[in-house]
This record gives sequence, structure tokens and C-alpha cells, in this order.
Amino acid sequence: MDAITLLKNDHHTVEQLFKRFEQAGKRAHVERRQIVDRIIEEISVHAAIEEQVFYPVARATVPGTEDIALESLEEHHILKWLLLELVDMDPAHERFNAKVTVLMENVRHHIKEEERDFFPKVREQLGRNELNDLGGALANAKKSAPTRPHPRMPDAGPANVVAGAITGVVDRVGNNLSGIAQGSVSAVQDLIARLTGSDRPKVSPTGSAATRKRATEVRSATSAATEGAQETAHTVTSGAKATAKAAKAGAKGTVTTAKKATTATATTAKRAARTTSRTARAAANKTVSTAKRTASRTAAAASGSR
Ligand SMILES: [Fe+2]
Ligand SMILES: [Fe+2]
Repeated sequence: MDAITLLKNDHHTVEQLFKRFEQAGKRAHVERRQIVDRIIEEISVHAAIEEQVFYPVARATVPGTEDIALESLEEHHILKWLLLELVDMDPAHERFNAKVTVLMENVRHHIKEEERDFFPKVREQLGRNELNDLGGALANAKKSAPTRPHPRMPDAGPANVVAGAITGVVDRVGNNLSGIAQGSVSAVQDLIARLTGSDRPKVSPTGSAATRKRATEVRSATSAATEGAQETAHTVTSGAKATAKAAKAGAKGTVTTAKKATTATATTAKRAARTTSRTARAAANKTVSTAKRTASRTAAAASGSR
């Protein structure tokens, strides 16, 4: 798919989620929380692929996009902090709706600028094939992009490619671990091949040299990303296995303790019941004898008065 179309589709998806949030009742806390979770994931992935693929390519190949790409990075940075604050926020909190409203205002402003000032420059400069290649690289980057906000993570290359691949694996644990790191690396490698190809008449000689330098940096970074991501995946998998084992053992222990507690409670209850019944019988006997005594005293008093 054409890169601009792919990014605009993402923008549309986010706008639809914003509309759903605005239409949900103010007290529809569960629904609003679910919508915000989707917003967090969509924007996190979208921002990551723009930072890892689209912005660097634009800066290297499209004249006049340097400043807007840098401004876009700063806007992403602010958005990620807002998203991070929303990750664990109670939807009933008095600041929740206000925070989402500010997030939506910021995102709408950012999208407007990208679609009005940034994307047309890229579309004008790159040909259809290049835009399709770029779209393919963005789609590949999506497979390994972080699904949660990481505002402290590097947002410019090549460090962001390394960090993004590793963080993407960690964010997705429990979802789809296999092939994630490799997907990210091949997405970047496809892009590098395209960027450094000799059939790029539109790239200026300066741009090509800068791109080749960046390509070398990214190549070494991506092999580090592969190793790092594989190691992280291994560590996370071992950690998950150990946790599952501990949880199983814990559950067994809980069942045994619960059984013991139940038996102890039953025994105590039986004892208490026996004691209660003895006490009740004694009390009843005492009441009966007291009544008998009172009755005979009353009878004696009655016969004396006659
Ligand atoms: Fe953006
Ligand atoms: Fe965007």
C-alpha cells in the first residue's frame, strides 16, 4: 500500500475512536476505558512507524521536510507522555475526560499539519513505486512497533530502530512473540536497500551520501536489534515459564491450606455446637426446676391464705 494512504488510514482509525469516545456517555466508564486502551495502542504503533521509517526517509530524500519532521517528533513526544498518564488512570477519575480531551486536541492538530504540510511534499517528491515500497516498510515496522507509549525511548535513528524492536517484543509478550524482531529488522533492511539503490534519480548527491552513511549506521544497529530482541524474547519467555511454575505451586499450597482451614473450622463449629447444646440443656433444666419451685411456693402460699 502507498505510504501516505497507510498513514492517512491510521489517522482515520484514530479519529473514529475519538468520535466514539465523545459519543460515549460520561458515566460509561468501562466503555471509555476500552476506547482509550485502543487509542493508546493505535497512536503508539503509528508514532513508532513514523519515527522509525517515515520521518527518516522524508528527511533524507524530500527537501524542505527537515523542520516539520523535527516538530512532529516533539509533538509525538508530548503525546506519549499524555498516553502514558492515561495507561493506568481510573476512568472515573475527575481528570480522565479532561486529559483525553487535551490528547484529542493535540492529535487532531498534529494530524492536520501532517496531512496539510508534510505528506503532500513527500507525495510530490517520491514516485508511485517508492511510495509503495515505503508503505511496505511501514507495514513491516508495524509488526514490531511498541504498542504502549515509551516517551523516554529514543525517537530518532538509528537508536530508535534498536530500542523499538526490543520494546515491541516486550509490549507484545503473551500476544504474538514469534517473528517480531525479524519482521522489524527486515522492514528496515528493505528500506535501506531501496534508499541506497542506484535507481534513485530524485535523490540529490548530498542526500545519497547522507543516506548511505545513515544506512551503514542502521545496518549495524539492526543486527544489534536482532540479537537484543532475541535475547529479550528468551529472557521474557523463561521469566514467564518460571512465573507460571511458581503460580502453580502457589495455587497448590493455597488449596491445601484452604482444605486444612475448612477442616479446622468444621471441627471448631462441631465443638461449639456441642457446647451450646449442653449449655442450652442445662439452662432449660434450671428454668424448669426454678419454675417448679416457684409454682409449689405459690401453691403453698395459696393454701395458707385459705
Ligand atoms: Fe505523526
Ligand atoms: Fe501521523
